[in-house]
Amino acid sequence: MAFLTWSNSYSVGVQQFDAEHKQLFSIMNDVYEGMMAGKGKDVLQTVLEKLIRYTEQHFSSEEVAMTRTGYAELQSHVALHRAFTTKVKDFQTQYRAGAVALSVQLLDFLRDWLTNHIGGVDKRYTAHLNAKGVH
Ligand SMILES: [Fe+2]
Repeated sequence: MAFLTWSNSYSVGVQQFDAEHKQLFSIMNDVYEGMMAGKGKDVLQTVLEKLIRYTEQHFSSEEVAMTRTGYAELQSHVALHRAFTTKVKDFQTQYRAGAVALSVQLLDFLRDWLTNHIGGVDKRYTAHLNAKGVH
């Protein structure tokens, strides 16, 4: 069974963002499977890098839509994105330096953050974006 499985309950009512969230789940599964399969650090670093890059792209597309449509909660939403990105990048730096290992705890943290974020703050923009014609 996959580490993370997308279901309709995660839908934020915007096709593009649902597709991006699915892709994030898929990359998370790659990280998890790579770790469980005992892949080498080079492989894990590559997939972690992919996860970070994709996360940043995705956050940016959400932020562009929220900005364009004058979303009232833009600032606080962006702050959450930044805090998460900073945390994961800090981990990446330490991981590269050999100071920490990729662990189930980290993966659990990423999964919990992502699913809580999607199910909580992301879903708060649904009505606003849909009303502005973003579906
Ligand atoms: Fe978000």
